[in-house]
Amino acid sequence: MAGLVNKRIWIIANWKSNKNISEALDWISKVGVKVSDREDIKVVVCPTFSCIPEVTKAIKVGNFNITVGSQDLSPFGVGAYTGEEPASLLQEMVKFSIIGHSERREHFSESDEMVAKKALQALDNQITPLLCVQDSATPVPQGVKIVAYEPIFAIGTGQSDTPQNADAVAKALKQFHGQDLEVLYGGSVNSSNVRSFIEMENISGVLIGKSSLEAEEFVKIIAECER
Ligand code: PGA
Repeated sequence: MAGLVNKRIWIIANWKSNKNISEALDWISKVGVKVSDREDIKVVVCPTFSCIPEVTKAIKVGNFNITVGSQDLSPFGVGAYTGEEPASLLQEMVKFSIIGHSERREHFSESDEMVAKKALQALDNQITPLLCVQDSATPVPQGVKIVAYEPIFAIGTGQSDTPQNADAVAKALKQFHGQDLEVLYGGSVNSSNVRSFIEMENISGVLIGKSSLEAEEFVKIIAECER
């Protein structure tokens, strides 16, 4: 364990297909007041597309230290692509985008090529892509600086990977793609185990699904990272 000295920690909430606008705003009001001004702790929330404008507004009005991200974006630019959200339009509201989540690879047949196109769209439009990788062999497109290691067996199962294995995968990813790559861990992270992951030498934060939905639990997770 290397401790947390000189390390920036990302705490990223992936709401997936959950929360209507009033539930989203309730969460923002409860969590927003608990996020400190610390520069080394970066809290990001990724709502559904339909909630992004209201969430962005609420964070601005409350002057909260939370960044908004999307859970996906289009592999194309503007134009005749029914149903897609292009990065060039999203960039007004989001600074980050999750790309290549395993649920998209599974339910929407996203290939590595599609994921690479999306990462490129993000990068071309000043959106930081948070690329999800399922293991150290998953391709990481050029220009991607933050990845989340999310083993499929750990997502939404309550059965997280071990911090030691997650650290070994993070170390391998850095060896393959450069030491400046920031590697997050995701998969059944909660307030009881988050500390054990962020204390690992090669892990720079967490991507959280289920345990990000309840404001109280998410506030506990932030407190664990700050202590
Ligand atoms: P989980 O999801 O925290 O519910 O396991 C993580 C993710 O899918 O990003």
